[in-house]
Amino acid sequence: MSSQESHPGVRTVASTQSEMTEIVLPNDTNMLANLLGGRLMHFIDVTGAMAAYRHARTHVVTASMDHIDFIQPVRLGDLVTLKSSVNRAFTSSMEVGVKVWAENTRTGAVSHVASAYLVFVAVDEHGRLQKVPQLKPETPDEMRRYEDALLRRQHREGEKKRRTKAKLVTASLNDAGAIEP
Ligand SMILES: CC(C)(COP(=O)(O)OP(=O)(O)OC[C@H]1O[C@@H](n2cnc3c(N)ncnc32)[C@H](O)[C@@H]1OP(=O)(O)O)[C@@H](O)C(=O)NCCC(=O)NCCS
Repeated sequence: MSSQESHPGVRTVASTQSEMTEIVLPNDTNMLANLLGGRLMHFIDVTGAMAAYRHARTHVVTASMDHIDFIQPVRLGDLVTLKSSVNRAFTSSMEVGVKVWAENTRTGAVSHVASAYLVFVAVDEHGRLQKVPQLKPETPDEMRRYEDALLRRQHREGEKKRRTKAKLVTASLNDAGAIEP
């Protein structure tokens, strides 16, 4: 039995690392022969989910994709490689980081084209929340991502409260007839 199996309540980042490579086909591109942003987001979601599944070992759903930078276009015929791993686990949720590279198949040039952070939530087959194992960061980079993930969670929670408050204000102004339909 591996040390991880003997401590199922704690997993390493390495045990969650996942990778996917796709070739950009005509159906994936816009009029400029660049990979569609939505298609790239789909690849990111799928690769992120792989890391979350490896951590939670149960069903996971995407709760948010809260930060994504499209750094440069990906061209028709490029190979797109995505790598993901869990940055931090909370109670039922996990933050996953995904990094994307494009490779020009003729020149072999590889460039970093996008990065994203997603939150996945572990659920059972009835959609009930499930507790996830804790994550043990081991390297300095993993520790930095682990700390940053907590700051991003706090930022997300702050944003959620701000949006809820804004909705309540709009609803009360609507009720008072202050906003025209
Ligand atoms: C994500 C979902 C399960 C959360 O359920 P909920 O009843 O709102 O749960 P809670 O508010 O109790 O939050 C549960 C956890 O989810 C996290 N969470 C909920 N909404 C979130 C959001 N928008 N962004 C990030 N995390 C979120 C909470 O922080 C909490 O994490 P923790 O347990 O680690 O502390 C529910 O909103 C859902 O099913 N959404 C639809 C998911 C979906 O269909 N995705 C696309 C296809 S996979």
